[in-house]
Amino acid sequence: MRNTDLFFLILLLTGTFTHIRAGSSECKARSFGQSSVVCECNATYCDSVGHVSLPAVGHFLSFLSSRAGARLQRNQGPVQKNSTGAALRITVVPTEKYQHVKGFGGAMTDAAAMNILSLSSRAQDQLLRQYFSPEGIEYNMVRVPMGSCDFSTRLYTYADLPEDYSLRNFSLAEEDTRMKIPLLQKAQALSARPLSLFASAWSSPAWLKTSGVLIGKGSLKGKPGGKAYKTWAQYYIRFLEEYEKHNLSFWGLTTGNEPTAGELTNYSFQALGFTPELQRDWIAMDLGPTLHSSPYSKTRLIILDDQRLLLPYWARVVLSDIHAAQYVHGIGVHWYLDQFVPAKFTLTATHDLYPEYFILGTEASTGWRNIDRGVRLGSWERAEDYAHDIIEDLNNYVAGWTDWNLALDMSGGPNWVKNFVDSSIIVDQSKDVFYKQPMFYSMAHFSKFLWEGSRRIGLSTSEHTSLETSAFLRPDGSVLLIVLNRSDAEVQFEVWDQTLGFLPTSAPPHSILTLLWATS
Ligand SMILES: *[C@@H]1O[C@H](CO)[C@@H](O)[C@H](O)[C@H]1NC(C)=O
Ligand SMILES: *[C@@H]1O[C@H](CO)[C@@H](O)[C@H](O)[C@H]1NC(C)=O
Ligand SMILES: *[C@@H]1O[C@H](CO)[C@@H](O)[C@H](O)[C@H]1NC(C)=O
Ligand SMILES: *[C@@H]1O[C@H](CO)[C@@H](O)[C@H](O)[C@H]1NC(C)=O
Ligand SMILES: *[C@@H]1O[C@H](CO)[C@@H](O)[C@H](O)[C@H]1NC(C)=O
Ligand SMILES: *[C@@H]1O[C@H](CO)[C@@H](O)[C@H](O)[C@H]1NC(C)=O
Repeated sequence: MRNTDLFFLILLLTGTFTHIRAGSSECKARSFGQSSVVCECNATYCDSVGHVSLPAVGHFLSFLSSRAGARLQRNQGPVQKNSTGAALRITVVPTEKYQHVKGFGGAMTDAAAMNILSLSSRAQDQLLRQYFSPEGIEYNMVRVPMGSCDFSTRLYTYADLPEDYSLRNFSLAEEDTRMKIPLLQKAQALSARPLSLFASAWSSPAWLKTSGVLIGKGSLKGKPGGKAYKTWAQYYIRFLEEYEKHNLSFWGLTTGNEPTAGELTNYSFQALGFTPELQRDWIAMDLGPTLHSSPYSKTRLIILDDQRLLLPYWARVVLSDIHAAQYVHGIGVHWYLDQFVPAKFTLTATHDLYPEYFILGTEASTGWRNIDRGVRLGSWERAEDYAHDIIEDLNNYVAGWTDWNLALDMSGGPNWVKNFVDSSIIVDQSKDVFYKQPMFYSMAHFSKFLWEGSRRIGLSTSEHTSLETSAFLRPDGSVLLIVLNRSDAEVQFEVWDQTLGFLPTSAPPHSILTLLWATS
């Protein structure tokens, strides 16, 4: 971004912030016949939770979203000295400490970038502010596909010239230079905290592969340590170099999107197959040493980037090898088959084996099953699916959670194989508006409040409850409690902070509640 552009952007933002502070920030609710509503936003208007500052000790803040239509509805109440007598008491146990939080975000796919750019420039800025600015929900992570994936409108990699083993002809695509990069630069500028970008590749160039094509089953030619594997490692470095020229540096890299897709299954779109053994040896012999001896040696290397039910098996194969393990920092999980194996046996089992590696949710979306494919404007069930999975992940040592496409169009695309799904923001280009889905608010209940560096703490309940809960100590010393009620009734309960007292509250039917209070 040129300095003049930046200056203009700052002017524009300052103007809009004043507007938001002065004006109302209520959701402009629209119903499309689903269980709940979307909030409609345009170039000049969007609901906003705004800045959140901690109330004085002795008071607590609560934010509520519900199927009935609340959207981050703010309330403040006093912490009481005496119990309210509610049957259900949730006690926070700050002495019990678990994993640190990395953060929350979404993916800047080609499709997301195209949808955002299909809006007028003021509406584009409005949308980016919703995700990244202190007025918005403050995402701090963005997943960036390296080259094309199914959410692209054509098939390409950055080195499509056959037999270019030295990557002399490596070059970013227009999708990067004209779409994703300018939007990522704006997102970075809007964000008060550093953005952590991480990159994932779907396929290597076709000429490096056994299949000779980008899609379906196929892996790299030859063996780890060989020419194709070395070139594929060097491709990652070239990608980091090119993005750096645009002032975008990457916090992390995954070893590749869904390696089993190109190995076990035969995807109709871009994939590159690895067994865990191949991934281990590629890291040990090629990717690890290449990254380590490059200027990007601090970049976090994240293995798996595939369904969590592959754990702990996949981690055991890769991380029990010290040659590979020394280069690895974390394990990326996708949510698509989560219901088949309890998190305890996948995530917690992996954490118990390898506690020094972080676990990160790297992809999730709704509307991917053929029985309920695509966009459902206003679906509360999908917001609950997100909150349920995030809480379950967090309670099983996951450090953060990344939504899939940041924005899709009204049909859940574009996607060149019509693998349409839903998104937290749906853009209607014909009206120059975008809709914030219930899922957006589900993400917000975590991303806005659960800062990087927070630490999960213990909780105990006085009786069995169907409420799903997770509690954290933030770096500013405050306590955060997130409560999901996926059922139909309302029951009063109280939260007990032994150092302060009792917080009287309740979780309405089908609601998500974030409670926040200072402790000193
Ligand atoms: C990158 O940042 C530097 C220093 O802030 C600035 O001088 C330069 O113009 C930027 N380059 C690009 C491509 O944005
Ligand atoms: C944007 O939305 C606001 C609030 O609904 C409305 O008052 C305004 O007219 C809209 N602007 C445009 C250009 O449609
Ligand atoms: C709190 O409880 C104590 C003893 O149970 C009682 O004496 C006192 O009046 C109560 N305070 C309030 C504000 O209800
Ligand atoms: C590849 O790169 C070389 C040298 O950088 C250049 O001369 C050539 O035109 C490029 N070829 C293609 C097909 O882009
Ligand atoms: C993968 O599927 C395609 C059709 O989508 C088919 O042509 C191809 O033979 C399949 N490959 C394998 C290895 O099953
Ligand atoms: C949430 O809904 C369930 C479903 O019936 C209900 O049992 C529960 O009491 C509700 N609220 C709370 C705070 O538990």
